[in-house]
Amino acid sequence: MATPLTLSCTLLLSLSGAAHAAINRHALVSRFNPVRTASSASTPMQVGNGHFAFGADVTGLQTFLPWATMSDWGWKNDSLPNGMSEADIASYRGVVWDGVQYEFGGPEPAQQWLISNPNRVNLGRVGLLFVDENGEDANVTEDALEEKRQVLDLWTGTMTSTFRWEGEEVTVQTVAAQNSSAIGLTVTSPLVQRGRLGVFLDFPWNDGSEKFEAPFVGVWNATSNHTTLLKTGAGLGRNVRAQITHTLVANTFFTSVGGGDDFTIARVSEATHRYNVRPSSLRGTFSVTVGYSPAQSSALSTVTEVQNESKDAWEDFWSNHGFIDVLTGSSDSRAEELQRRIILSQYLLRVNEAGDYPPQESGLVDNGWYGKFHMEMFFWHSAHWALWNNWDLLNRASSVYSRFLPTAIQRAQVQQGYPIGARWSKMTDPTGRSAPGEINELLIWQQPHPLVFAEYEYRATGSRATLEKWRDVVHATADWMSVFAHKNASTGFFDLGPPMYVVSEDTNPNVTRNPAFELAYWRFGLDHASTWLTRLGEAVPALWTEVKEDLAPLPVENDLYAVYEGIPSDFWDTPTFTNDHPALVGLYGWLPQTANVSLDMAKATAEKVWTSWNISNCWGWDFPMLAMSAARNGEAEKAIEWLLHPLFQFDDVGMPVGGVRVPTPYFPGSGALLYAVAMMAEGWDGSQGNAPGFPTRGWAVRAERISKAM
Ligand SMILES: *[C@@H]1O[C@H](CO)[C@@H](O)[C@H](O)[C@H]1NC(C)=O
Ligand SMILES: *[C@@H]1O[C@H](CO)[C@@H](O)[C@H](O)[C@H]1NC(C)=O
Ligand SMILES: *[C@@H]1O[C@H](CO)[C@@H](O)[C@H](O)[C@H]1NC(C)=O
Ligand SMILES: *[C@@H]1O[C@H](CO)[C@@H](O)[C@H](O)[C@H]1NC(C)=O
Ligand SMILES: *[C@@H]1O[C@H](CO)[C@@H](O)[C@H](O)[C@H]1NC(C)=O
Ligand SMILES: *[C@@H]1O[C@H](CO)[C@@H](O)[C@H](O)[C@H]1NC(C)=O
Ligand SMILES: *[C@@H]1O[C@H](CO)[C@@H](O)[C@H](O)[C@H]1NC(C)=O
Ligand SMILES: *[C@@H]1O[C@H](CO)[C@@H](O)[C@H](O)[C@H]1NC(C)=O
Ligand SMILES: *[C@@H]1O[C@H](CO)[C@@H](O)[C@H](O)[C@H]1NC(C)=O
Ligand SMILES: *[C@@H]1O[C@H](CO)[C@@H](O)[C@H](O)[C@H]1NC(C)=O
Repeated sequence: MATPLTLSCTLLLSLSGAAHAAINRHALVSRFNPVRTASSASTPMQVGNGHFAFGADVTGLQTFLPWATMSDWGWKNDSLPNGMSEADIASYRGVVWDGVQYEFGGPEPAQQWLISNPNRVNLGRVGLLFVDENGEDANVTEDALEEKRQVLDLWTGTMTSTFRWEGEEVTVQTVAAQNSSAIGLTVTSPLVQRGRLGVFLDFPWNDGSEKFEAPFVGVWNATSNHTTLLKTGAGLGRNVRAQITHTLVANTFFTSVGGGDDFTIARVSEATHRYNVRPSSLRGTFSVTVGYSPAQSSALSTVTEVQNESKDAWEDFWSNHGFIDVLTGSSDSRAEELQRRIILSQYLLRVNEAGDYPPQESGLVDNGWYGKFHMEMFFWHSAHWALWNNWDLLNRASSVYSRFLPTAIQRAQVQQGYPIGARWSKMTDPTGRSAPGEINELLIWQQPHPLVFAEYEYRATGSRATLEKWRDVVHATADWMSVFAHKNASTGFFDLGPPMYVVSEDTNPNVTRNPAFELAYWRFGLDHASTWLTRLGEAVPALWTEVKEDLAPLPVENDLYAVYEGIPSDFWDTPTFTNDHPALVGLYGWLPQTANVSLDMAKATAEKVWTSWNISNCWGWDFPMLAMSAARNGEAEKAIEWLLHPLFQFDDVGMPVGGVRVPTPYFPGSGALLYAVAMMAEGWDGSQGNAPGFPTRGWAVRAERISKAM
């Protein structure tokens, strides 16, 4: 087991070896600064800080395309369905199966309201205002701009967009605050001096009528459904010169403008929520901060402060945490694209996926599943932060387990009637509530995840404080695992399910018993939970040990592992079972070797997946999961092929393309890529040699401050 000592040794070794000067991180990061010469129809270029992100078109603002401005705190409830009260919603109950109360199959419209509320809000739009010679809004389209060029400086989080309008050069600089939900923008042009440029703000209606809102979030013409109110003058807060209150049903959000040059602001008309901001003094530049908050803001950072914060936070991110160079010295022509994916994924995950809650699949770019997050996906989104030593970012959301512990205990013990433990939810909102749904309620692979996060944290700190911090979460998590497994009187083994859903969500929950991946993950989890209590000097509950040792054997069909016990033996040839996540490859790859898993059989099973699964229906994290399996099985060339599979795409700014199944972006693909690359570069417990997951020929791989995978 690695200790903090191993971490620092790795660092020292990589820094001190004569042939190993420190990686030139600045050069490698900057090499992949995205450049655009036109707006993309599918993804924005973004700045942000993990809690908050701002998506921009080619002007550096949301001028032509209403890309979203989203946050980890901006959520709203729609009006209750006609005739329903809070009490009706609170009393929603679903079905009872075998004496267990689940939240699905209950009465509508309460159920759909609970699925789609609260939903995530697009906080507003900031665009460049083009003014004609008469001082009126000019009707400008992107085609009217010439010599467009936009560069994102990853090292400082600064987006610089230049173009010509009416022959004059315009430069827009956009940066995100790091301590608040704000952008600082600076427009520089002779046209500013002539009163021909300004900024506009606009606000959309948001509701939960659409499960997916991509690529844009909100409705801009339902203006009578919501209200905005402008206040200007003194007393609004430090640096705040104007504030717009945006109210949707009973939810109010605040937009503050100030922190830079003086301006006038006016609502364009009562029929819109558009406000024009024009510089008061005619100089060559106009700077202003636009900040968003859930409560009236008491202060706004100045544009200079925002620029400083951005530079400091990004330089720290790139300089002082994990870093991997697969490019310098590699002759394999695929190294360039792999390095690009690594760098851009690091950037985008820090922008979109480092908030106070686990991220939604599309981060802060657009909305999927109403903006809610999925606790089973938390591993793929965020476990890489542990291997890359970005504890400051991971700790923001991983504390969700202690914050949601009361609701998870309530779900397990009060709602579902288990005697002990906490059952973690799947599709979740910031209150910890599980969205109604059969799969949401019957999925189980999210359950051991906190044990993984806890274990990585302990490896990093080795401290008693970490053991105590996670103790209750670890205990309640393992308690529920031990009582969900139930003893089968005829076999004497503890069974998992039915009812339950497997990772691939494509089997009949009523017949799904003893799935291979979940059995292995259960044993892995109970093992780690037991070790945790032992480290604390506490006795391990006898039931944990009994369940761990007597869990049912992994199902085997024709000398290969099977998805679950009793699955039709021709399942490999049946589209029903071979079109979703191939979690069987996770038995050894994603998971380290667990007791009762034969490595030979796991490898043969993975190779069978390569030929029998419908790979053209795989998406996102499937490819890194396949790579991790190939790497542990000694198939390094294959691991690289999976990471660069033609169906696993990252666009020009590094957005992970959703592919056949989900909208773009689908960030679990990025998180899983970083986890897989770290594991392949630094190795895993028991691995041998340098960069054990990379082919020895053609690849030169260097890792700094990366930790080994379990
Ligand atoms: C939405 O309503 C639910 C249920 O009444 C409540 O728990 C939650 O706090 C509300 N969220 C917001 C953002 O209003
Ligand atoms: C703006 O210009 C576009 C393209 O030339 C045109 O289709 C549209 O009608 C114009 N809108 C206004 C309000 O003038
Ligand atoms: C808003 O725009 C949509 C799409 O263009 C259109 O279908 C809808 O009728 C418009 N609604 C209003 C209130 O104008
Ligand atoms: C606006 O509100 C009305 C009344 O609540 C509702 O029927 C309509 O669907 C809303 N419009 C949109 C675009 O959501
Ligand atoms: C911004 O950073 C520079 C250099 O670190 C410093 O001199 C300056 O005072 C900072 N300005 C603000 C407003 O924080
Ligand atoms: C602001 O953010 C910077 C960079 O993340 C950090 O170093 C600093 O401590 C923060 N300041 C405050 C007041 O939170
Ligand atoms: C016990 O296990 C056997 C074999 O796995 C299975 O067929 C049977 O349905 C199980 N019994 C119960 C009560 O679940
Ligand atoms: C599963 O079992 C429940 C309760 O016994 C039943 O209502 C449901 O229809 C079954 N589902 C399937 C897919 O067989
Ligand atoms: C699984 O492994 C454990 C630990 O090695 C062992 O005690 C147990 O008998 C094994 N179970 C099965 C079903 O093979
Ligand atoms: C495999 O996946 C592709 C892409 O989604 C789909 O079109 C095709 O029908 C699937 N093939 C089978 C045999 O399920």
